[in-house]
This record gives sequence, C-alpha cells and structure tokens, in this order.
Amino acid sequence: MIALREIDRDNFYDVIKLSVSDEQKEFVASNLFSLAQAKAYPECICLAINQDEVLVGFTMYCIDQEDQEYWIYRLMIDAAHQSKGYGKAAM
Ligand SMILES: CC(C)(COP(=O)(O)OP(=O)(O)OC[C@H]1O[C@@H](n2cnc3c(N)ncnc32)[C@H](O)[C@@H]1OP(=O)(O)O)[C@@H](O)C(=O)NCCC(=O)NCCS
Repeated sequence: MIALREIDRDNFYDVIKLSVSDEQKEFVASNLFSLAQAKAYPECICLAINQDEVLVGFTMYCIDQEDQEYWIYRLMIDAAHQSKGYGKAAM
C-alpha cells in the first residue's frame, strides 16, 4: 500500500538519494533542492512516498501565496520503481 510519510532524520538521506532517469531530470528539481526550498518557503510541505515499508518517491505541495490555492509542485518516483502504479497511487 502507498503511504505518504514525513521526512525526518530516519529517512532524510534515503530521500535525497532517490533519482529519476537522466532524461527526466529536466522535468523535476532534485529532492535535495526541494527540501532546501521548503526550508525557505515554509508553506511547502515535503513528503516521502512509501510502498509498504520501501521508500519509492517524493512529493512536495504548497499553498501559493498569490492565488491561495494548493498546488503539487513536485512529484517523483525513483527510476528503479517507476511504471508500477506508484505515481498514480501517490497522487
Ligand atoms: C511521472 C512519474 C511520477 C510517474 O510515476 P510512475 O510510478 O512511474 O507512474 P505510474 O506507474 O503510476 O503510471 C501512471 C501513468 O503513467 C504512465 N507511465 C508510467 N511510466 C511511463 C513512461 N515511462 N512513459 C510513458 N508513460 C508512462 C502509465 O502508463 C500510467 O498511465 P495509465 O494510468 O494510463 O496506465 C514518474 O515517471 C517520474 O518520477 N517522472 C519524472 C519526474 C516528473 O516528470 N515529475 C512530474 C513533474 S513534477
């Protein structure tokens, strides 16, 4: 089952090691960048995506300061775990 988990000292290093394929890198910022961004933009919420106990991806949602709408700014599934339905389930 897919679960969204907080990012803390137990999974931080594993989350920043997650990566998309080289061809996909232009579509999404690195998780390291997103976590740094969320420190400066506290309205951004970062979450780990787990399939059962296995970390498979990362997402970040934010409330936009201008339109006051929630947006999903980031969604990524690690290249090794893609095309198994996890991205769709996480959404
Ligand atoms: C986009 C992404 C999150 C999808 O995650 P995923 O777990 O691989 O996707 P799923 O297995 O849940 O599949 C979801 C849909 O995408 C399709 N899909 C998955 N991998 C695909 C691929 N490599 N090429 C084309 N379509 C693909 C599936 O067929 C499915 O469509 P369907 O519901 O019509 O069958 C993942 O590919 C990714 O991390 N991409 C790079 C980062 C990115 O572009 N993020 C979005 C912008 S922030």
